[in-house]
Amino acid sequence: MRPFDRRRVLLGVTGGIASYKSAWLARLFGKAGAEVDVVLTAAAAEFIGRVTFEALTGRAVHTGLFDPGRALDHIKLAREAHAVVIAPATADFMARAATGQAGDLLGAVLLATKAPVLIVPAMNDAMWAHRQTVENVRHLSEALGYRVLPPDEGALAAGEGSGPGRMPEPETIFAHTGRLLEPDSPLRGKRVVVTAGPTREAIDPVRYISNRSSGKMGVAIAAAAWRRGADVVLVAGPLSVPTPTGVELREVETTEEMADAVAAELPAAAALIMAAAPADFRAATAATSKIKKKSAPSSIDLAPTRDILASTRGARAKNAVIIGFALETDDAIRGGREKLEAKSLDMVVVNDAREAGAGFGVDTNRVTLLGPNGQEEALPLLPKDAVADEILDRVETLLHERS
Ligand SMILES: Cc1cc2nc3c(=O)[nH]c(=O)nc-3n(C[C@H](O)[C@H](O)[C@H](O)COP(=O)(O)O)c2cc1C
Repeated sequence: MRPFDRRRVLLGVTGGIASYKSAWLARLFGKAGAEVDVVLTAAAAEFIGRVTFEALTGRAVHTGLFDPGRALDHIKLAREAHAVVIAPATADFMARAATGQAGDLLGAVLLATKAPVLIVPAMNDAMWAHRQTVENVRHLSEALGYRVLPPDEGALAAGEGSGPGRMPEPETIFAHTGRLLEPDSPLRGKRVVVTAGPTREAIDPVRYISNRSSGKMGVAIAAAAWRRGADVVLVAGPLSVPTPTGVELREVETTEEMADAVAAELPAAAALIMAAAPADFRAATAATSKIKKKSAPSSIDLAPTRDILASTRGARAKNAVIIGFALETDDAIRGGREKLEAKSLDMVVVNDAREAGAGFGVDTNRVTLLGPNGQEEALPLLPKDAVADEILDRVETLLHERS
């Protein structure tokens, strides 16, 4: 299932320059399975066309309160929405919303809805800093209970330099909307520790042993867990993808550092999902200066690194759900089952690095989920985001059974 399947999101777009980014946001909602109703203010329609949103969402775009045949749209839209997202929200719109004005369709929808509301302001930095705007934002969040996602610092409109006021990227707004949409997840408020990426073991100060892990699978799990309401700690080696919204990042380099970071987080973790590919070997002795080409040794002695999963056994919180990953190139299922038993895990996610579209670097994965009593469930080739949701569905079930 996609994260926004069977969800209806009302996207309100007001007349700010950042409204061009809202087209991408509508696309992200749609790709995640949502039905997206777009409401444009009259000013927004000066910036971005109705047709763009209609083509992206496959649905009619709403603008006027008094459009012919649409007399009760504001009530219907307000009632059917599972979440209302206003992005960008202008200073003008927030002033109106703070005083409950319903003189246009979006204002009327906001008063009529019972759905959670996310307001994403974007404006010139002086407008954002104005005392009236500050007061309006405070009122919207504290008195009226709307979630306000503050603007980023960064480049403003052409010639306006840089400062606070820039609309956060659509991916960030998307993640916050997901968190708004999932109030009943068993993961809400639970601490989830996810590991991701490779680790690096020094050969000398400039060279290292590592592997091809990009961190995409672990990052997808961390993002999905945060969207479901968890407090997520991401313990990550060097990642090739951006850190997801909302998660606390613990950056590590070596397997030893990853093991220490996991050990520190473990006592409070309701779930530990080990999607990282820590290096299994390190140089038995790392050189303290760069090894010269002409004096290079013909071989490097290897020593095993610490086994992170096995070393967590004594420190796991009671009832914690522990998930491991097994990436193999031969006899993957057998390797995964051995890991499940040797390390006392609740589930092992197995994938074969040689299979097309699976494993390191790519955006998709084909995994088999192994459980303790011989359970074996082969999932089809899926985007890593979808694999992350499949894994978290099972984590939620396990947490629920143990609660
Ligand atoms: C080129 C241009 C860019 C604008 N950008 C913003 C903006 O980023 N944020 C904002 O609050 N207002 C901005 N405004 C002002 C709003 O468009 C104006 O306040 C309008 O009344 C907002 O109407 P609405 O809130 O109904 O969409 C801009 C105006 C112009 C002409």
